[in-house]
Amino acid sequence: MELGHLPIMPKEIVEYVCTALSSSPELVVDGTAGGGGHASLFSEAIPDSRILAFDRDPSASVKLKEKFAGSNVTVFNSSYTKIPEIIEDNNYPLAGGALFDLGLSSIQLDTPERGFSHRYTGPLDMRFDQSRGKPASAMLKEMTEKQIADAIYRYGEEGRSRVIARAIKQSRRLSYTDDLAEAVRSVVKGNPVKPLSRVFQAIRILVNGELDHLDKLLSEMYRWTRPGCNVAILTFHSLEDRMIKLHFRDSEHFRQFDPPWLLPGSVEKRANPRARSARLRLGVRL
Ligand SMILES: C[S@@+](CC[C@H](N)C(=O)[O-])C[C@H]1O[C@@H](n2cnc3c(N)ncnc32)[C@H](O)[C@@H]1O
Repeated sequence: MELGHLPIMPKEIVEYVCTALSSSPELVVDGTAGGGGHASLFSEAIPDSRILAFDRDPSASVKLKEKFAGSNVTVFNSSYTKIPEIIEDNNYPLAGGALFDLGLSSIQLDTPERGFSHRYTGPLDMRFDQSRGKPASAMLKEMTEKQIADAIYRYGEEGRSRVIARAIKQSRRLSYTDDLAEAVRSVVKGNPVKPLSRVFQAIRILVNGELDHLDKLLSEMYRWTRPGCNVAILTFHSLEDRMIKLHFRDSEHFRQFDPPWLLPGSVEKRANPRARSARLRLGVRL
């Protein structure tokens, strides 16, 4: 079982977020620190700057605090939606660079007890923060067939959403990842891996309210970034990507960088399967 997370597009991100400007930014934000891969690179690239690392997941945050003890990285177990208050309450300067690497880490995906993957048997939970909200099993039980179908269609971009939602609702048990996977397999002909991945992705996005968090982040980002701040956002989903594109294009506080986005190269895509669906959106605070 893999227990690490390879940071995606490390060179491009360190350059854009930390070293592209003529002087190092005083403060850099890693809003989704995960396994700390990008944050470590920031720490090395700009040793005299302060890096604020956020993660919504309490267990990821405990490990990040251990990893970065005594360094120039300060860790907060918090959603990135709380960045404006945290910067203000602690009298930090405005940020000169920021990264958001959306979605979940390989560490979370490969931990069966978290219930994120159809590849492992585990409780059907999928919460980034297991101390809040409802696990996927409880949420699915409360939802109607139509609500589930809409979520699978919208967040999973899966065309067979209606028939899959019906099978989920008819499933006698929905306590474990295997129960959800079995419901999907029972109605999908051919190789089930893609539909399984799409359905698990859709339920995860729903359970964690991921698009609501992203929407709040985008609408408040101007409050804690200084003019000239380079913001990089790694997206893995067309809905997220579109929200970010429109924000950088149309917001009165941001403009798109030129080029507005970058993709990982073929060598990286071969070495890191997670990089295959990644797109790096680049914006600049006006
Ligand atoms: C793709 S991983 C980040 C990996 C990281 N860049 C690295 O190099 O290890 C995404 C992380 O974002 C966290 N996350 C998801 N939504 C969040 C939110 N709204 N606020 C803060 N962290 C969030 C997840 O818990 C996960 O650990």
